[in-house]
Amino acid sequence: MAKFVVDFGKLGQEPAPDGRLDGPAFHRNHEPIWSAIGGFLSEARGDVLELGSGTGQHAMTYAARTPQLTWWPSDILPSHLASIAAWRAAAELANLRAPQRIDLERADWTWTSDGGSGGPLAAMLCINVLHISPWRVSQNLFAGAGRFLKPGGRLFVYGPFKRDGAHTAPSNEEFDASLRARNSEWGVRDIADLDREAQHAGLSPAALTAMPSNNWVLAFARPLRQN
Ligand SMILES: C[S@@+](CC[C@H](N)C(=O)[O-])C[C@H]1O[C@@H](n2cnc3c(N)ncnc32)[C@H](O)[C@@H]1O
Repeated sequence: MAKFVVDFGKLGQEPAPDGRLDGPAFHRNHEPIWSAIGGFLSEARGDVLELGSGTGQHAMTYAARTPQLTWWPSDILPSHLASIAAWRAAAELANLRAPQRIDLERADWTWTSDGGSGGPLAAMLCINVLHISPWRVSQNLFAGAGRFLKPGGRLFVYGPFKRDGAHTAPSNEEFDASLRARNSEWGVRDIADLDREAQHAGLSPAALTAMPSNNWVLAFARPLRQN
């Protein structure tokens, strides 16, 4: 178990009796994120894996908007897995599967579908995880995208990011310093570093969509034809 993770159950609010947690940022960011990913996901077919799903509210909301996709949420924390399961039970969506434990600190991580482990994915989604985890989590996310995304598939990443070594806003610089003070392995990642990992994994460089509050959606594509 990672020693330092954001635990929504310890942010001062009690979970609902059934375990559902409510992430404050979800209410601010889920529509802006959808504006960047919804076009692709509405046309896509197949399986979508979410990493670090947290409360489970993004997977639940987006699954309701894309009945043609099958959503697979995941996390590492038991309280978050319980929250995802509780939101799923409440939503009663046929295309939202039970949460699974996936630890991105493991280089050999895999995912499990009804038919077994690690099939090809139409898309992967990772929201607000890479800055509050060690750099190897980012590396393992991209390596996994290289293993699992099918041709034409996309990896969507949301959060604050640096561009070519520079913060995109003073507030992000302060946030970065506060993250590093809490855990020296955390920090706002640089898109240039993520592009390098994407290249190793056979993915395109990031396509950027600016989000409110100095956040970004980064979209990395697996080409239809690999060179
Ligand atoms: C800030 S929360 C974001 C949760 C959710 N994506 C959201 O935006 O509401 C970060 C999440 O990453 C998860 N996480 C941290 N380290 C992880 C790891 N090594 N592998 C997978 N998930 C991890 C945490 O448990 C937590 O749910």
